[in-house]
Amino acid sequence: MTIIKLDAIDSTNSFLRKLYTYKSVEDFTVVTTKLQTNGRGQMGTVWASERCKNLTFSVFVNTSALQMDFPFYLSMVTATAVSAVLQDFFIPKISVKWPNDILSQDKKLCGILIENVMKKGVINASIIGIGLNVNQINFENLPKATSLSAITGKIYDLDEVLEALVKKLKAGILAIEQKQFETIKANYEANLFRKNKPSTFKDAKGNLFSGFIKGVTNEGNLRIVLEDNIVKTFTLKALTLLY
Ligand code: BTN
Repeated sequence: MTIIKLDAIDSTNSFLRKLYTYKSVEDFTVVTTKLQTNGRGQMGTVWASERCKNLTFSVFVNTSALQMDFPFYLSMVTATAVSAVLQDFFIPKISVKWPNDILSQDKKLCGILIENVMKKGVINASIIGIGLNVNQINFENLPKATSLSAITGKIYDLDEVLEALVKKLKAGILAIEQKQFETIKANYEANLFRKNKPSTFKDAKGNLFSGFIKGVTNEGNLRIVLEDNIVKTFTLKALTLLY
């Protein structure tokens, strides 16, 4: 495994993407940095992380040999890998808030941003970006954020956590290669936040409705059973989970 350790960079995802535009990148190359100056989150948000305290890294996956009919499987194995590592470190009440925020109780510990590189209309490579709050204690203006240290009071070795994450991620990608699709989805759904609990949602028009999260589709849409027992699926843009 090639690991590129940087002191500072705008974004590890952007770095890998640029690197791949002018040279071939070995499968499973990991880029990690002490500081991201322009960390990117989902849907155009900013990912802020205190210098040297947390893990901000990206993994390059050559997907040309993987059958990527459903890119969401990469998202599922990533979320499951992070959850499993956190459970191995005895972090309590880990769940995955659809599609791939990792929570402890109801606070966010980790965000995942997967970007696909297309060539001739197919996904040729994926860059899996992971931001995991490890030793940061103060999260100003982010009341819903937490870290391993904030939860357990311990200080963690970032390299040790990184190694455990990359190892589990590799196992997840092997499961895709081996086409263990049912197992992958079952493992992901087993960790879903508020699964089978009565929840309130807001749709794209701002209407509130209640339902029970049941699982996901292969495309990554959320399956919800509504009050009248009808199952509906929702894309990320069409839905907000309120509580
Ligand atoms: C989110 O929850 O909004 C996703 C956050 C993803 C953050 C990580 S940190 C490493 C990688 N580089 C980035 O610019 N973003 C991802």
